[in-house]
Amino acid sequence: MNKFLTLAFDVYGTLIHTHGVIVALEKYVGDKAAGFSRIWREKQLEYSFRRGLMKKYETFAVCTGNALDYTCDYLKAPLSQKQKNDLLEIYRVLPAFEDVKQGLISSQEAGFRLFAFSNGSADAIEMLLTNAGIRDYFLDVVSVGEIKSFKPDPDVYNHFLKRAGSDGADSWMISGNPFDVIGAVSAGMRAAWIKRSPDAIFDPWGIEPAITVSSLSELAGQISKHLIEHPG
Ligand code: 2OP
Repeated sequence: MNKFLTLAFDVYGTLIHTHGVIVALEKYVGDKAAGFSRIWREKQLEYSFRRGLMKKYETFAVCTGNALDYTCDYLKAPLSQKQKNDLLEIYRVLPAFEDVKQGLISSQEAGFRLFAFSNGSADAIEMLLTNAGIRDYFLDVVSVGEIKSFKPDPDVYNHFLKRAGSDGADSWMISGNPFDVIGAVSAGMRAAWIKRSPDAIFDPWGIEPAITVSSLSELAGQISKHLIEHPG
């Protein structure tokens, strides 16, 4: 039954831990590191949204670099260019969350087709996943760079479906980012929200994921259960 089900795994914030830079940040900004990391990530996403709307695409790495400059200015943390370059280097090899490998193995064993689908450029994602030792679980990497826009533009979810050769009803977006879940559902896909922290809040828009799990290791079982309870 699961043979044709396609899973699109978001990367930053779902497979890969974007706050994996905190240890390096602590060296440069001390106890401001957690706040710094949060503002950096929020600005990175805001810049991607704005570039998508303005149709002024630059890679996600450019959004990340611009957001780093902004965060330094905002927090009055004057990092040297070398320190910024070091942080951006670390960003290219961020670690995977602990539950990822098991989650991917059980998703494969359930017969699902696994893809990575990200705002990151294909090169950056290939490198991240390879470095984290998880590239081989995926049939392919689909990047928004192929159509020069960003999530949650519906065009990027439609592009994913075309690349994966699947339709929305049989394709699930797997994401820790509520805006990505809402974007995918709004574009006709199904979605699972990975809510690793009990304090995480879902945007109250009335557009909901089909399932919510606290760990990727629960994912395959919960999708299979959902399909039995909601056939067709
Ligand atoms: C990704 O596309 C949304 O940052 C997230 O990888």
